[in-house]
Amino acid sequence: MALATTVLLASCGGEYPGSTIDPKTDIGETVQALYVSVFWWSMFILVLVWSVMAWVIIRFRERPGQPEPRQIHGHLGLEIAWTILPAIIVVAIAIPTVQAVFATQRPPGDDALVIEVTGHRYWWEFVYPEHEVETANELHVPVGRPVSLRLASDDVIHSFWVPMLGGKRDVNPLRATVNGEEPKYNWYHFTLNEEGEFIGQCAEFCGQSHALMGIKVVAQSEAAFEAWAESMNEPSPTAAPPGPDAAPTPQQDPMVAQGRDIFLNSTCVACHSIEGTTAAGVLGPDLTRLGEHEFIAAGMLENTPENLYRWIRDPASIKPDARMPATDREARLPVGEGVWPATGLSDDQVRAVAAYLSSLR
Ligand code: CUA
Repeated sequence: MALATTVLLASCGGEYPGSTIDPKTDIGETVQALYVSVFWWSMFILVLVWSVMAWVIIRFRERPGQPEPRQIHGHLGLEIAWTILPAIIVVAIAIPTVQAVFATQRPPGDDALVIEVTGHRYWWEFVYPEHEVETANELHVPVGRPVSLRLASDDVIHSFWVPMLGGKRDVNPLRATVNGEEPKYNWYHFTLNEEGEFIGQCAEFCGQSHALMGIKVVAQSEAAFEAWAESMNEPSPTAAPPGPDAAPTPQQDPMVAQGRDIFLNSTCVACHSIEGTTAAGVLGPDLTRLGEHEFIAAGMLENTPENLYRWIRDPASIKPDARMPATDREARLPVGEGVWPATGLSDDQVRAVAAYLSSLR
């Protein structure tokens, strides 16, 4: 019953955006091919061993009047055979495995797109030096071009894991670097072969909200990726107040304008930045074109004005230990780093800020 139920449940599902056995990168496919080949060799050996065992059980079973079969305990030939054969099998598995391990470490060449990934409690920062773009939690990557993720942490050890991109990589803090040594980054090189949206998750316990540290990957054509990167360098139409000689924009929502005033004149800007505005904080996620994100709070909540309102009002009630202050409660920071004071925003002000952030597209 237990086995049947497990098999039945395993088939009850639709699309798996986080499947470990449906890789979309060259590295993922190398690992998958290794896994599949080892699996089928194991099955072959399993059938072989079970067949011999079944034959022995039937052929030599106890029958009335039958004498005990000839005993072969200590048979030298058999002892040697079942020592050498498994050794050969282990070597046969080890050779392609070691080859695959080296393949995952091979540098991708100079034309690779380098993306600097920084793990924070509890969100991901993605910086594209080539495009001078910065974003958070939603990683845009081109299909067909080699990508190099340069991984490091701002605090504790995290682990970057998007199953459909392939394996995990630890994201280590580099604060311990001494004597001017080069920081020892971890790298993950891959080339995507299919467009799509994949999900990932921090895979190293990093604190109370470790489980709430998601990643969304948007794999898109090179043209779409370049267009996205370019758009990230242009301010959203609603990001900054219109200048003195700007054309009037009658369709602009007064609530968005109000939210913008509040945001740009409050402590929000101490941590967050938005392209084209005076907000240039670096401690929290970059909010440029936040309205285009599917999720907020690192994959936790759907990106709706209502959820933004809930989040801004009291982040730690949704994500324990979040480093962002609530309207009426300070944010706890690690020991020795003090606290962030409460924002003091009223409910109406929070709603306006949520409307402003939603408009950033
Ligand atoms: Cu970051 Cu677990």
